[in-house]
Amino acid sequence: MDVLNESAANEAAYRQLLADLYQARGQARLGGSEAARAKHMARGKMLVRERIEALLDPGSPFLELAELAGEGLYPGVGPGAGLVTGVGLIAGRACMVIANDPTVKGGTYFGMTCRKHVRAQRFAWQHRLPCVTLVDSGGAFLPDQANIFPDEGLFGSIFHNQVGMSADGIAQIAVVMGACTAGGAYIPALCDEVVIVRGQGFMYLGGPQLVQAATGEQTDAESLGGAQMHSRISGVTDHLAENDAHAIAITRKLVRELPPMPPPRILRGVSRPPARPPTDVYALINADPKKPTDTSAILECLLDAGEISEFKAEFGDTLIAGFARIHGYQVGILANKGVLFTESALKATHFIDLCCKRDVPLLFLADVAGFMVGREAEQQGIAKAGAKFITAMSAARVPKFTLITGGSYGAGYLAMCGRAYQPNAMFMWPNGRAAIMGPEQAATTLALVKKQNKLAAMESWSAQEEEAFKAPIRQQYESFASARNFARHLWVDGILDPAETRETLALLLDLAARLPRQDTRFGVFRM
Ligand code: COA
Repeated sequence: MDVLNESAANEAAYRQLLADLYQARGQARLGGSEAARAKHMARGKMLVRERIEALLDPGSPFLELAELAGEGLYPGVGPGAGLVTGVGLIAGRACMVIANDPTVKGGTYFGMTCRKHVRAQRFAWQHRLPCVTLVDSGGAFLPDQANIFPDEGLFGSIFHNQVGMSADGIAQIAVVMGACTAGGAYIPALCDEVVIVRGQGFMYLGGPQLVQAATGEQTDAESLGGAQMHSRISGVTDHLAENDAHAIAITRKLVRELPPMPPPRILRGVSRPPARPPTDVYALINADPKKPTDTSAILECLLDAGEISEFKAEFGDTLIAGFARIHGYQVGILANKGVLFTESALKATHFIDLCCKRDVPLLFLADVAGFMVGREAEQQGIAKAGAKFITAMSAARVPKFTLITGGSYGAGYLAMCGRAYQPNAMFMWPNGRAAIMGPEQAATTLALVKKQNKLAAMESWSAQEEEAFKAPIRQQYESFASARNFARHLWVDGILDPAETRETLALLLDLAARLPRQDTRFGVFRM
């Protein structure tokens, strides 16, 4: 295929990935079934996305986190797991908005809903963002209790985080907009300030039916946990609203009274457009994942004026390191350009140290098959070079962001600030993939192990049998590694269209620029 045709074929394949992504996003934005939405609106209530739009300043961006979490995991539940989370401006102040979607199984919490709520809280905590929670939830989705109830990171952690953030002076505001039962009631009860909607918001640890079953007491919802009762008698809530719109107006007023956002500590330069349009990425990434991507060309599409002030350009050239700007925000770039060798790992370590000393946020652009293997690499001490890289990256206390732009595998995925290292945010492009190893390598490794055992047992294994053994492993690795699978399981915060990447990173860098400086203390560097 000539270059032009190949480019056009790449772009067509990429646009198909994007069409699939936007289709899933559209489904996530719909929420529950048509019938559930109609029932909800017939009660005079706003849909969750309408609530968020009314809550945010007109024209505010909404940096949504985990939009596709839970996709395909629960029968009859669309992407999003019945919760919408994201950062937007309220009265000019960046806030984390966490909102139940009551049209999805009554706004109840599946395991993934808990994890998504907790993830949003961690982001808010890390960036010191007030949390505004629009509560409209029946609490736990009872059949999924194993993934909701017992462990940390699940429902109990939501409360634990609320308490911790409140203690750290990060405002916790809840708006009770529907029937909030059990866990759904504790979320507002543990907030600093609570708004409730008359005739519509209810809060109780057990609803009327449960109370009757448990104690025999017959009661109605209003006297058990209605807005009027809680505002006038129990004092569980602080502000009484007449409807959704009124509750949102009160909430915006509460946010206005909060201390102002800290000003940016890191000065921003003038924003310059990239050297190439970001949409050029579509054709630059080969439709065949085995064909490498030109990292320098990708940087030209992402960085202001496409410029990077490279560090050690002549050394360890399978990793590009250097200072650059995105919409005027300075950032330290680490971008793969092949397999990681000892030299590239040492270069990464040195560069991360520089960024920590100079207080520059790090952006990892991951597209890496892993660290080099083999006798020569081992004798050069690749294990300790990799360990230095991981030590530096893990200990670095500057804000860290990760974008998987291609295939990110094995320890390469980890060293390029994988999820375990708690980057401030982590995204994938639609073509992104990540796994312990590639499908072919995994199938071959397992086949070799099997073959050795067969040989030891003096059993034969035909080429056909071997292929039948390998095919499902390849298939399993292929579907595991996809960006959609990572987004579904919340192993990343979302999938970004390359065209929206610069804007998203600029928002994240703006939040990071307002955080107090943290000093880095490295662990022992193995020499
Ligand atoms: N666990 C599992 N499923 C639940 C649920 C729960 N806690 N609460 C509601 N659902 C399901 C319903 O079965 C229904 O499923 P379907 O769409 O497949 O039929 C769906 O969620 C919507 O519930 P529905 O009652 O039709 O909606 P609603 O808007 O009229 O009422 C609630 C929503 C949450 C107020 C109401 O369902 C309720 O009170 N649920 C029980 C809450 C509870 O006791 N929780 C205790 C958790 S510890």
